[in-house]
Amino acid sequence: MILPGLTDIHTHMREPGGTEKEDWSSGTAAALAGGITTILAMPNTNPPTINRETLGIALKIAKIGARCDYGLFLGAGETNAEELPNIAKDAVGLKMYLDQTFGPLKLDSLNARLDHFRNWPRHKIISIHAEKDNIMSSILLAGMFDRPIHICHVSLKDEIEMIKAAKENGIKITCEVTPHHLFICREDIAGREKEFEVRPHIAERSDMNALWENMDVIDAIATDHAPHTPAEKSSDNPPPGFPGLETSLPLMLTAVNDGRMKMENLIEKMYTNPNRIFGIPTQPDTEIEVDTEASWEIRGKDMFTKAAWSPFEGWKVKGRVIKVILRGKEVFSNGKILVEPGYGLNIAKKEEV
Ligand code: DOR
Ligand code: ZN
Ligand code: ZN
Repeated sequence: MILPGLTDIHTHMREPGGTEKEDWSSGTAAALAGGITTILAMPNTNPPTINRETLGIALKIAKIGARCDYGLFLGAGETNAEELPNIAKDAVGLKMYLDQTFGPLKLDSLNARLDHFRNWPRHKIISIHAEKDNIMSSILLAGMFDRPIHICHVSLKDEIEMIKAAKENGIKITCEVTPHHLFICREDIAGREKEFEVRPHIAERSDMNALWENMDVIDAIATDHAPHTPAEKSSDNPPPGFPGLETSLPLMLTAVNDGRMKMENLIEKMYTNPNRIFGIPTQPDTEIEVDTEASWEIRGKDMFTKAAWSPFEGWKVKGRVIKVILRGKEVFSNGKILVEPGYGLNIAKKEEV
């Protein structure tokens, strides 16, 4: 079956500063192997992408390393709300962290939140890591400023219901859900919680079921590919996050095979809506070939991500990426990456006027 090249609107590349976990070359190879031809990279690198200098560094590294197309997020900080609009044209969106997770970008000051909502260019979206009550305050800001927001990795029943109500009442809000919150719940990981440390946390079965029941409220499936090394994940204080680029499509194809989801909804949530929400241009001559009948077992050691492990280790899935064509070039075929770092383009560039 031929599908469009997919877009992952939530990816952590780790370069600069964390190349033992992932770099642009390995991370974008993982994307292509997962049928993803565009990734949007998060700003919680080291240094974080929060001003002209660090955006310049990130753009340079991405240009050299990327094998697929990409956009970069700028991070909303306590003191950069004035500066960001001047450099927004090279970024795809603003990322705001309202809860503690990996990296230094948690935004506590209410004033800074307001300033970002006031200043960030209106045609570019604000993506928010918000959990529980913080989703409520994000909805309030979206309403006050009448501008679109995107809520990352919704994981709880209460959260998806709140977003549904906000949509019904005219708030400009979209949201994404990750495969790990759709397929793993607390019961499944009893006794192994540390290994499965992720933000938002793996939730209860009732929450997971509520996500499936509200599939029509979910605009996008996004990986939140957040690679950390196996050594880090098995330490006493494991950082939060899972790699996900190579398992997202196979898991969703398995859901289609199992009759839990329609193929047209998969395409809508992994391609059409992501591109519309973030204003991503269509990639010419781009498609992926998937074998929807191929059954295989997920194994971290076979992956292109440097993290080389998976929370879905040993899972049997049905649906495999066979070939990826990106802008007329065969970039992945039968398990092999056929494109060098540097082929990927910054999709934000094209909007420059
Ligand atoms: O589990 C997570 N890991 N959640 C996040 O929000 C950040 C991410 C990371 O960068 O490791
Ligand atoms: Zn997050
Ligand atoms: Zn993330």
